[in-house]
Amino acid sequence: MDYQVIIPAAGSGKRMGAGRNKLFIEVANRPVILHTLDVFAYDPHCKKIILVVQSGDESHFKDILTGHPGHEKIEFVFGGDERQHSVFNGLKAASEQIILVHDGARPFIRQHTISRLVQSAHDNGAAIAAVPVKDTIKRADQNQVVETVDRSGLWQIQTPQAFRLPILMSAHKQAEEQGYLGTDEASLVEKIGLPVMIIESDYDNIKLTTPEDLYFAEAILAKRKM
Ligand code: CTP
Ligand code: MG
Repeated sequence: MDYQVIIPAAGSGKRMGAGRNKLFIEVANRPVILHTLDVFAYDPHCKKIILVVQSGDESHFKDILTGHPGHEKIEFVFGGDERQHSVFNGLKAASEQIILVHDGARPFIRQHTISRLVQSAHDNGAAIAAVPVKDTIKRADQNQVVETVDRSGLWQIQTPQAFRLPILMSAHKQAEEQGYLGTDEASLVEKIGLPVMIIESDYDNIKLTTPEDLYFAEAILAKRKM
């Protein structure tokens, strides 16, 4: 089933502290953004990659992407102040019936998860990648524990998140009208009362957020090459 993917890449990577967009940092000698784009470049069902960038980063992205197999199907869109605004800008350039949103900073997503998300979004309207929470979770007031939360039924949410286009569009429009800022797209869909399905993903589908994540990234890539 065909789809298009919106890749928000318009952040500034403050928590990574590299002094530039973290998607330009090299892991296994290639910029993070290229690792993220690989799977979509090679997937014949991915009809368009909408890459959302800051205007000041556009030319550097274009330089990096020269010769990448995904080059031909990438469309550049400018981002906004918050990730949600960046995704909404990307969504205005989308046209396929199934739309994925996948963070530029999450380079290890596997094809089989993408295929399952696309199918579930087609069948159910919205589907998100997630892994079961494996740590013990407690609620605290300041530093004092209030309670231990029952872990069953708790999921750690990742991207990709997949939607039928009209659902994601309505969810974003309503969020904009109400001034609601969610931490992911699914929360906007939940707000309009529509179901969101979970597709179990992999623990190594990490988002590169802080400097130590770069060590994990090197290790994941080294393992995959074996
Ligand atoms: N993103 C975006 N537009 C924004 C903010 C973030 O497109 N206004 C993108 C980032 O480029 C990243 C993804 O959303 O690929 C997830 O965001 P995050 O991990 O928070 O990245 P940054 O915002 O760059 O990092 P930080 O919050 O540490 O500054
Ligand atoms: Mg951010």
